[in-house]
Amino acid sequence: MTNPTDPLSECTTKVIAMPADTNPDGDMFGGWILGQMDLAAYVCARRLVKHKIVVVAIDNVVFHKPVFVGDCLECYTHLEKTGRTSMTVKVEAYVERRDSQEKEKVTEGRFVYVSIGADRKPVPIQG
Ligand SMILES: CC(C)(COP(=O)(O)OP(=O)(O)OC[C@H]1O[C@@H](n2cnc3c(N)ncnc32)[C@H](O)[C@@H]1OP(=O)(O)O)[C@@H](O)C(=O)NCCC(=O)NCCS
Repeated sequence: MTNPTDPLSECTTKVIAMPADTNPDGDMFGGWILGQMDLAAYVCARRLVKHKIVVVAIDNVVFHKPVFVGDCLECYTHLEKTGRTSMTVKVEAYVERRDSQEKEKVTEGRFVYVSIGADRKPVPIQG
């Protein structure tokens, strides 16, 4: 399934926002949202390599709207770029609110992963 603004993306993960991951005011923690996006980007990036991958950078993160308990968070991923050892995955997170079927974009960002060998040094993706 693709999202309306990026036909090249796919819905990689879906998860319900639970009360254990809220801030003291009851909204979802930004760190929890980023963690979900990281997992989705990882699923997308690891398809390309046999090696272990690690995230080296998270860029251009914007939190557009809050996420509430009970929302279904959907992370859409799109492999934007591959380098010699790195892969950049654009992630757009949408929510389906509890009381509505409409999707709202809540967060976006770019996750850069590097393929590493047993010595933890970068290795070519096609290695
Ligand atoms: C990822 C890591 C192995 C990279 O080592 P490094 O010696 O800095 O690697 P290099 O400088 O050779 O860069 C490797 C690739 O990453 C890219 N890269 C490095 N830093 C980057 C940054 N800040 N932003 C975007 N890309 C970056 C380089 O452009 C290069 O890409 P390419 O080979 O496709 O051209 C090392 O920084 C590391 O182990 N970091 C910790 C990772 C981690 O623990 N993540 C959290 C848990 S998964």
